[in-house]
Amino acid sequence: MQKTWWKESVVYQIWPRSFNDSNGDGVGDLRGIIAKLDYLKELGIDVVWLSPVYQSPNDDMGYDISNYRAIMDEFGTLEDWEALLEGLHARGIRLIMDLVVNHTSDEHPWFVESRKSKDNPYRDYYIWRQGHAGREPNNWRSFFTGSTWVYDERTGEYFLHLFSTRQPDLNWENPKVRQEVYAMMRWWLDKGVDGFRMDVINMISKVPGLPNAPIMFNSRYQPAGQYFLHGPRLLEFLGEMRAEALDTYDTLTVGETPGATTAQAVELTNPDSGPLDMVFHFEHMDLDTEPGLPLGVKEWDLLELKQVTSRWQEDLEGRGWNSQYLSNHDQPRQVSRFGNDQQYRVESAKMLATFLHMLQGTPYIYQGEELGMTNVAFPSIEDYRDIATRNAYRELTEEHALDHEHVMARIHRKSRDNARTPMQWDASENAGFTSGTPWIKLNPNYREINAAQALADPNSIFYYYQALIKLRKANPVIVYGRYELLLPDDREIYAFTRTLDDDRLLVILNFSASTPTFELPAALPDTSPQLLIANYAVEDSASIRQITLRPYEARVYRLHGHASP
Ligand code: NOJ
Repeated sequence: MQKTWWKESVVYQIWPRSFNDSNGDGVGDLRGIIAKLDYLKELGIDVVWLSPVYQSPNDDMGYDISNYRAIMDEFGTLEDWEALLEGLHARGIRLIMDLVVNHTSDEHPWFVESRKSKDNPYRDYYIWRQGHAGREPNNWRSFFTGSTWVYDERTGEYFLHLFSTRQPDLNWENPKVRQEVYAMMRWWLDKGVDGFRMDVINMISKVPGLPNAPIMFNSRYQPAGQYFLHGPRLLEFLGEMRAEALDTYDTLTVGETPGATTAQAVELTNPDSGPLDMVFHFEHMDLDTEPGLPLGVKEWDLLELKQVTSRWQEDLEGRGWNSQYLSNHDQPRQVSRFGNDQQYRVESAKMLATFLHMLQGTPYIYQGEELGMTNVAFPSIEDYRDIATRNAYRELTEEHALDHEHVMARIHRKSRDNARTPMQWDASENAGFTSGTPWIKLNPNYREINAAQALADPNSIFYYYQALIKLRKANPVIVYGRYELLLPDDREIYAFTRTLDDDRLLVILNFSASTPTFELPAALPDTSPQLLIANYAVEDSASIRQITLRPYEARVYRLHGHASP
């Protein structure tokens, strides 16, 4: 397998609004990040992915961009950004920026022009259509509830928006739009940026004619997903982007690709012709999602997690490359979702970290994950800031007449604001995040769960992540080894091996609060196994033939020799 730095890297995602506030306005900013660079260095990560810091009216917290070449006032200036890049590079850390080009803000000058008249030179930068029998051009529904169309009185036509009404979709069929995007990418690359995380990049090519979706709610994503996910010209557009904006730079590119199948991921990331380096797929994020109404919740199942994960590991082996994540700014906190955020918070956070970092693919750490930060349960919808959450509350209570308690229970489990409460730096007022009034409330557990506590405790989750990252650097098998699932039918234990030439690791993970017994499959050797990492103390002489696992226990061994026949 081809060796590259971005396969060997660990990426840390910063969602700047909630990372660290340097000027007391209650909003995180670039100078705040600069003040924490040594913290990131101590953790050992290689790359920072910075969520959008561009000028934005913040309808969708920066994912609605009104100027791609300017920094949002609340976050600082271009000089601050340059100082951040310099500080990162001085520490050997690369920086990738969010690239949000499926849509812009409705305040972007292109859209301001576009809506002025049908013959405006920017009209075709966006997707405008006539209504159909006095109604929207088609029946597509937005990810943030409601129709994907907004009627604009000025010209008597509708514009398309897959996300909020203030995020009009760009028209990628227009070559001028594409050239604007590539020029903007080169502008950042020339400034020294090391790559891009590409927002919903598999939505940029829509099926011509924008046909009606046959049945409402027939997909996990959005009823009309088949008409804009991995559309007919996606590979062509991304191939062009690679040739015009990326090929002459040494970058990391990761495409956010909701709904992607493994076959599509291979098309996008295969080492010969794939336009991207890796993708974020969503199949594991769907395991506890009831399709249909927004914020749908169901229980997830370990067997399904194994099936999904194993299929992605096997289908991409040697043919493509994946990212590994359980958290980001759009998802609930992983320890609350897949672990146990009460009695076994520390153990399960370490177990989940072991899981992610031992899979093939580039691991992503979302800010606060290294502290085991948890979901939050604010009592009132007024405490929530996220447009998707607020719109969903309105739709569920008003259109579907669900009661407040029921809807809040869904929000407590699934709201994106679970991940967006401020970083918990210490036990002081507002967790050391701001000296002012935070833009969103903190999770009240910051007095116990915070970075100062973690840095003072050698057994903390933070140092466990640090150890995992060091292991990755020292053991190519963790990066390049082939994955093989063991015990596929076990409902509590997730075990697998990773093999590179004659180096073989055994990963044993207890995903439950009980104490199941792990039995080593007969085909694997038990002679002098070497323990690489574990989240509980393990005796040196312990046999691995049979292990009674403790709640959420995780162990990784290097196996030696061959099993006796
Ligand atoms: C995915 C981003 O991660 C999310 O935060 C945003 O709301 C949508 N794309 C729209 O840009």
